Amino acid sequence: MAENKITILDIRRMKEAGEKITMITAYDYPFARIFSDAGVEIILVGDSAAGVCAGHESTIPITMDEMIYHIRSVTRAKPRSLVVGDMPFMSYQVSVKDAIFNACRFIKEGYAEAVKLEGGVNVEDRISAITAMDIPVMGHIGLTPQSLHRMGGYRVQGRDNVGRKKLIEDARAVERAGAFSIVLEGIPSDLAGEISGIISIPTIGIGAGIECDGQVLVMHDILGLAFSKRPKFVKEYANLKQAATDAVSRYINEVKEKKFPTVEHQYS
Ligand code: KIV
Repeated sequence: MAENKITILDIRRMKEAGEKITMITAYDYPFARIFSDAGVEIILVGDSAAGVCAGHESTIPITMDEMIYHIRSVTRAKPRSLVVGDMPFMSYQVSVKDAIFNACRFIKEGYAEAVKLEGGVNVEDRISAITAMDIPVMGHIGLTPQSLHRMGGYRVQGRDNVGRKKLIEDARAVERAGAFSIVLEGIPSDLAGEISGIISIPTIGIGAGIECDGQVLVMHDILGLAFSKRPKFVKEYANLKQAATDAVSRYINEVKEKKFPTVEHQYS
């Protein structure tokens, strides 16, 4: 293991020390290098690749093989950041055996260092089985995009008492099963704060407010590369779509006007 490599032990320690954890998604080699060099602690190769990279309308269609391609592209960058591979729909829902087999594929073929899967009480047996194989698991509860059809759309979860109670039970189940951390997505910030106080593993929030132990965003949202409507919880730190449009427009103009290539770009 490379010196200085971030491991799940560092992530656990950060919660104990009260130090905020940063996580960002990445799906390929160049962005993995950029984010790792910038100092992010965790790179999540999210199944959001289905939407932001492949243009699907949900995360449901992405396959194990497609995810392994993205994870492999990220780990080839040898990032200092911990690399977590996101288990796609149908890779763990059908059976515990599938869950173990597919988590092992992420580690063996993708060189991921941990896996993430969605659900709480309903996937407790999957998380226990994968962690029993010595594969670190990150949980994910709240607005879980693979449960789109049950939720009736991408809606904030846990707004009423029944929903709050269920999410607290889910968080406890994920911790009990041995996960090293948990994503809290699309839940009221006071509930996220309550969960972060109850469980000992780090909570990583997305649309879950300031009281989580860390934050995660999709890289396309942070960098202004997304084509879908921007959700309330997103902060855009750059507008790379505009920068790319400007750069390519200049290239087109210079080719049309015979200003590119010049002598400095050609061979004699
Ligand atoms: O797939 C993904 O990008 C995710 C994060 C938004 C948490 O699951």
